Amino acid sequence: MNKLQLAEPGTADEMLVRKLDLNALPGHIAIIMDGNGRWARSHGQTRVEGHRAGVASVRDTIEASAQLGLEVLTLYAFSVENWKRPRYEVWTLMNLLKEFLLKELEGLVKNDIRLKILGRWRELDPSVVSLIERAESETADCGGLQLNIAINYSGRAEIVDACRQIVADWAQGKGTDIDEETLGRYLYTAGQPDPDLLIRTSGEMRVSNFLLWQISYTEIFVTETLWPDFRRGQLFEAILEYQSRVRRFGGLSEDAERDLQDNQSG
Ligand code: FPP
Repeated sequence: MNKLQLAEPGTADEMLVRKLDLNALPGHIAIIMDGNGRWARSHGQTRVEGHRAGVASVRDTIEASAQLGLEVLTLYAFSVENWKRPRYEVWTLMNLLKEFLLKELEGLVKNDIRLKILGRWRELDPSVVSLIERAESETADCGGLQLNIAINYSGRAEIVDACRQIVADWAQGKGTDIDEETLGRYLYTAGQPDPDLLIRTSGEMRVSNFLLWQISYTEIFVTETLWPDFRRGQLFEAILEYQSRVRRFGGLSEDAERDLQDNQSG
């Protein structure tokens, strides 16, 4: 991958790119895109205009992730809980998703990006379902970035759906023992690595029912930036912060390991 592709020469983004270690990138980045409403209010606009502005951030984040050569990018676009929002806001969000699936499909194929929608998307309006089916099937053979978009998604519902499918398979005599590996194979993200980095915009310190199973050992990065202001520069900042973290997966820190060895040899 060529660093030059990632940012305009002489820009702040280029300075960040220079600092990135391209051999230690997170394989999977998941993002909770938050703050569209607050962005709209601060610009004297309506909430739906905030969501519309957020689409440009979605585009730039996908493009930069593909250029970086990330394995998986997962974006949280619409939760099961989001149905509680005003009808017009829900309608606009569904239309933005439809527009995205229509307008971006060609670009996804051209850039070798495989799309998968996570969530109970088959319960959505038939017009959305058919666009999803088409986009998933036309990108199925793409071998570059795996782009997941979570729509009508809930982390708890995902685990419930996995359990229901396991029970259905048992009923058909296809039962296996349940362990963590088996359950992982029944999740919407089956076959994909767990997120290494979870980014949340707008400063909120919540997980919001997102990828509950998959984020057990994910590094979390919260930025004050509101989603419509998020661009590749903020993505690079998050990755830089990630690269400064020491991941222990429940094991000992290097200091604790050294203390232990000193005590044993002393
Ligand atoms: C949260 O901000 C954002 C959402 C619920 C929707 C995210 C959707 C988009 C960015 C656009 C469409 C997506 C795609 C993939 C085309 P909020 O409304 O909760 O913000 P607030 O907390 O400031 O009110």
